[in-house]
Amino acid sequence: MSPIKVGLVGGGAIARAHAIGFNNISVFFGDKPGFELYKLAEANDSLAEAAAKRYSFNNWTSDWRKVTNDPDVTLVDVATPTFLHKDPAIDALEHGKSVICEKPLSSNAADAKEMYSVAKRNGNVTMVGFNYRRVPLVTFARDMIRNGRLGKIFQIRTHFIQDWATPNFPLTWRFNSKQAGAGALADLGSHAIDMIRYLVGEPTAVCAQTVTIIENRPLPNEKDVKGKSDVDDTTFALLRLEGGIAAEVNASWIASGRKLQMGFEVNGSEGSVYFDMERPNELRYYSSHDSETEQGFKTIYGGQRHPYGDVLVFGVPSIGMGYLDSLTNQMRDLMAGVAKGEQLQPSFYDGWRVNQIMEAILKSALTERWVSVES
Ligand code: NAI
Repeated sequence: MSPIKVGLVGGGAIARAHAIGFNNISVFFGDKPGFELYKLAEANDSLAEAAAKRYSFNNWTSDWRKVTNDPDVTLVDVATPTFLHKDPAIDALEHGKSVICEKPLSSNAADAKEMYSVAKRNGNVTMVGFNYRRVPLVTFARDMIRNGRLGKIFQIRTHFIQDWATPNFPLTWRFNSKQAGAGALADLGSHAIDMIRYLVGEPTAVCAQTVTIIENRPLPNEKDVKGKSDVDDTTFALLRLEGGIAAEVNASWIASGRKLQMGFEVNGSEGSVYFDMERPNELRYYSSHDSETEQGFKTIYGGQRHPYGDVLVFGVPSIGMGYLDSLTNQMRDLMAGVAKGEQLQPSFYDGWRVNQIMEAILKSALTERWVSVES
């Protein structure tokens, strides 16, 4: 079989993490399914050349169409800012490529639906970059839930809170609602919403509060001139899920002291699990079957016997996997799916659903009432 030829659109922060994932596959797993890091597109030639060389891509261009149209490219990876996802993704899908696109899939639900519809019509293999699904103990928590270890699920609380968006943080595209879709809700909350869908189920209605705390931020490269941010710095949302399950999302990038608190607690009739990405190798588990004298959360340390355990070089539980390992796991699954032509999860369908739920959250905050999520 001819190798999968990867075209990467965008060479910024997350593209670097994707490149690490791609480059790690053969080292970690030794089962490299024949692929080539073929061509990278950036906004101009010098950025493209620098990123291609750094990430080990063989060719580069300043025109993303030369990636999405290239008959040799099999898989297109869209890692541009959110408002630049749709056009390259759709062009790649229309040219029959498999496509991985970063999250959130789009800055609005209508465009996300169009992206999903094109993929569905053409039968492309797709994936959205909700990488936390492939943190081993997150995958394991889902296995526990699926296997009934928590009994009947009652509720899930999720959060993704950080503190980097200080008042002096510049007014980049993330603070422009048209470009980003929303603020902390889109950047961070999209992952938390994906966790709810991945672990427990589908939201049917939402009730939310969004708050812009820092209304004016310095313009990039002009620190004495300020411009207006029109996005949420903090969002709280209550969600009703199918089957009467209750859910909660808190997204914030101004939560002082919180660095990478992407986490959840799921409570069921027979137990609970708690996870926090600041401690990615620990899953806290409570079983109501423990004797009354021994009840309490215990710590499960991630190791080789957990999902993706073959990434670990040593058989020592808690030796550690982090953020970048989830990207390696994601890219390995992606390559395997593309090689077999098998649909992957989270797909563009999942990406569209998250965009729909975020839009319902924004509408609820604006109208100050419960809003149904379209099904
Ligand atoms: P970034 O600003 O660091 O990188 C974006 C890159 O795209 C820049 O290097 C820019 O020059 C390039 N670009 C702009 N226009 C282009 C064009 N026409 N053709 C080719 N390249 C172009 O942004 P970052 O942080 O990498 O975010 C990109 C996407 O990744 C966003 O959708 C974001 O939400 C997502 N993301 C996902 C993360 C995750 O954990 N899954 C973490 C960070 C970002």
